[in-house]
Amino acid sequence: TGALRGVVALDGPSGTGKTTVARKLAANLGAGFLDTGAMYRVVTLAALEADVDPADAAEVASLAERLRLDIATDPSAPGARLDGADVGESIRTARVDAAVSAVSAVPEVRELLVRRQRAIIAETVERVGGIVVDGRDIGTVVAPDAPLKVFLTASSEVRAARRGAQDTAAGRPVDQAAVLASVRRRDELDSSRATSPLRAADDAVELDTSELSIEQVLTALTELAGHRGLLD
Ligand code: DC
Repeated sequence: TGALRGVVALDGPSGTGKTTVARKLAANLGAGFLDTGAMYRVVTLAALEADVDPADAAEVASLAERLRLDIATDPSAPGARLDGADVGESIRTARVDAAVSAVSAVPEVRELLVRRQRAIIAETVERVGGIVVDGRDIGTVVAPDAPLKVFLTASSEVRAARRGAQDTAAGRPVDQAAVLASVRRRDELDSSRATSPLRAADDAVELDTSELSIEQVLTALTELAGHRGLLD
């Protein structure tokens, strides 16, 4: 396989293996990788640290304007910084999980982050030729002209099981019923919000990963990119 030329938009709910797949695909194809969910998580962490109510849209928007957010695009060293501090771990806690849907529903926050995401995508394509972008609204809003859009799905049970396994691997205690409830709650919030609800773009390829391994998903995506003529 060659190097990726252009943008691959990878959207879908959490627990579909999206972030893992996006990162590996980028590494395999010599491309950049952008985890847009991490950006919403950084803003959420900032709100929690500042004792700002995640549901207070005006306060959250003003905080988002003020904070410094840095996100790495190297698939071998992804990372996120808030005002210079490494927050790669602290954006993955249950506390952030519980608040991130409210923060990502604030239109001003989305506008700000979408602008940043478009700039990062343009800069990375210019520098390394291609980028795999992981999110919810990449194919619909952030990069509607992307030459390959994929929407990953999986049943909520499978996604909760994967999420629980990640927590176990990270040494965090797991309450599987609570994880399933949290997955379903976030699906509901993410797909029913007024601004950029989670949905597949009309021209996205839908791929159900319930029965597929990460390797199988990677193979399918690499083939799709090849068929679209995106591999050098
Ligand atoms: O992919 P993730 O679980 O890290 O995303 C965290 C949250 O951010 C998720 O609840 C939805 C939101 N999100 C979004 O609204 N738009 C994106 N492009 C990426 C994530």
